[in-house]
Amino acid sequence: MAKILPSIFGADILRLKDEIHFLEEEQTEILHVDLMDGTYVSNIAFGPNQIAAMKKASSMIFDVHMMLANPERHIDDVINTGAEMISVHYESTPHVHYIIQKIKKAGRKAGVVLNPGTPESVIEYLLDDIDYILLMTINPGQPGQTFIHKSLEKIRNTKKMISGRDIQIEVDGGVNLDNVKQVKEAGADLIVVGGALFNKQPHESYQALKIAVQ
Ligand code: DX5
Ligand code: ZN
Repeated sequence: MAKILPSIFGADILRLKDEIHFLEEEQTEILHVDLMDGTYVSNIAFGPNQIAAMKKASSMIFDVHMMLANPERHIDDVINTGAEMISVHYESTPHVHYIIQKIKKAGRKAGVVLNPGTPESVIEYLLDDIDYILLMTINPGQPGQTFIHKSLEKIRNTKKMISGRDIQIEVDGGVNLDNVKQVKEAGADLIVVGGALFNKQPHESYQALKIAVQ
């Protein structure tokens, strides 16, 4: 069974407290939180202070997806938000191993993120140090994009590469009710959903997504 991780970036910012409350009511275990700096990706979203405030108002596990240039400059602040899971883009730093060590030393789960154009083989030498791999199935930064179909092959190849290690595969971008089953069957354990959950019927959408990945 795979888990659906709502992406708070897709929520209504003017009703943020209600949206968090809704997710708690829906028994959400893990909340995906995007951190974007306007440099590594074009968008800007949720800085460490906002994430810490949301964390205080919630009992969910926080999965912070760092989309930052120079993550080494911000990692301490991100750790201080209290997030239990923190991921760093492989492409965003020459010091990816250093960031992973910092996350692990703080007692959190460490993830490495790969953009659609980055082959999974680049993280072979990190496999003994990480808890999860986040595969982007859109180019990060903007909501409402179309799932890149070729990613299904990459999920399958990543699953083969980790060969039995205790590493989870997370998928992020363009997932909806039409493709979520294929994403799960390809090998994803954690599936991030933004726009396809925070719509006019969030309860019904969330339930349908959960049922599809059972
Ligand atoms: C995009 C973010 C995603 C985003 C996904 O860069 O990393 O987490 O919220 O949104 P959807 O599911 O709408 O593509
Ligand atoms: Zn994300």
